Amino acid sequence: MKTRSVTEGRRDPHMNDYASKTPISRQLYNRAKRVLPAGVSYGIRYFEPYPFFVAKAGGSKLYDVDGNEYIDFWLGHTALILGHSPKEVVKSVRKQLENGTQYGVSHELEVALAEQVVKMIPSAEMVRFTNSGTEANMYATRLARAFTSRNTIAKFEGGWHGGYDALHTGVKQPFDLPESAGLTHGALQDTILLPFNDLEGVEKRLRNEHPAAIIVEPMLGAGGGIAAEKEFLKGLREYCNRSDILLIFDEVITGFRLAPGGGQEYYGVKPDMTVLGKILGGGFPIGAFCGSRDIMKRLDTTIYKRPHYSFHGGTFAGNPITMTAGLTTLKILEDGKTTSRLNRLGDKTRVNIGQIFDKHGIDVQTGGVGSIFNTHFTKEPIRNAPSAFRADKKKLLDYNMALMTNGIFFLPAHTQALSTAHSKTDIEKLFNVTEAFAKKHNEY
Ligand SMILES: Cc1ncc(COP(=O)(O)O)c(C=O)c1O
Repeated sequence: MKTRSVTEGRRDPHMNDYASKTPISRQLYNRAKRVLPAGVSYGIRYFEPYPFFVAKAGGSKLYDVDGNEYIDFWLGHTALILGHSPKEVVKSVRKQLENGTQYGVSHELEVALAEQVVKMIPSAEMVRFTNSGTEANMYATRLARAFTSRNTIAKFEGGWHGGYDALHTGVKQPFDLPESAGLTHGALQDTILLPFNDLEGVEKRLRNEHPAAIIVEPMLGAGGGIAAEKEFLKGLREYCNRSDILLIFDEVITGFRLAPGGGQEYYGVKPDMTVLGKILGGGFPIGAFCGSRDIMKRLDTTIYKRPHYSFHGGTFAGNPITMTAGLTTLKILEDGKTTSRLNRLGDKTRVNIGQIFDKHGIDVQTGGVGSIFNTHFTKEPIRNAPSAFRADKKKLLDYNMALMTNGIFFLPAHTQALSTAHSKTDIEKLFNVTEAFAKKHNEY
């Protein structure tokens, strides 16, 4: 089949610039395509004309195989709040590498990290570790069902909880199309879709339903970096209390980022269960789910037997490398100084980017919360995923490519984040390149 040339059908001059700067990446991409579907390990990492290939990373920077340098605002799917290879984490991992990389039996580091999570996350009395956020959501959903003896789970339009079948629906527009082939009717028949930031809509949709749980991200991540309104989350909590429904916060992105205690501390709303990931692993693969002792007890095989206990496990669960990296990271974030500083920087970033586009007469809404930010090219205020999907995607991709060819990496069309490794100069460069793009954009 003919592949589209780099420039074919596009007016964006940044594409040519990108192609001329990344010939070795293009060769690697052609090689990758033969053995990795779409040439990538995760579909969202593909972007036009082809992704660059990273040779190394450090601090706030990615360096590609062609020798280009990028200030990284994608930060490994927002996981790297301390930037790439922070020295404290590297030191703890080095030490652990000498002592064993995988035990598969109990060890103190998993206890220490669980204690640290319990100390920091308001809703956590007990924790279990997984290897990804997807897995943690799967086990949390199962636990909610086991605990309540109910089947149905309610999630929000635009809510992304990973690729687990029962939650892999209603993420993108059109929300009524399955997100993947291969999802059975059986896997989805107990999933209810709810409108985000719309308490009345939630109550209306659930009038004749009694789900085991409502799962919500305090900020829709993949759904467009859309912050929940405080009154909405509070209202959801009250509704769940009144209706005897478990409230699960998926804090895979917001956990340890919005505050040491995540979105629940930031918003002052305590869920029954919390799902964590990303930052918790200190740069290594992780997920976790936690909640009250009463709920988590259902995982205890010394108390519950089949069919009453809820299974969780995994070969690499509690892997010591991840545990030590996570523990070192959480200790750094614990006093809240880092998250407060990054949140202030996030406010400045959203305001400045908004003002730059306003000044040049370009309709924009800057989204996100705390140290997470996003740009939607539209006049319409963004309160939910449908409004985010109506924004001008082409302009967003052009902006992201303009940044890339000027040494700034946003994963195109995704939500970006800040880290302690970003310097003042890094942020100024983001504003300057944004300004240059805004000035020129009408010429494209
Ligand atoms: C809110 C949220 N939940 C769950 C996941 C899935 O986590 P993972 O990619 O580690 O499986 C993600 C990943 O981006 C996420 O943003």
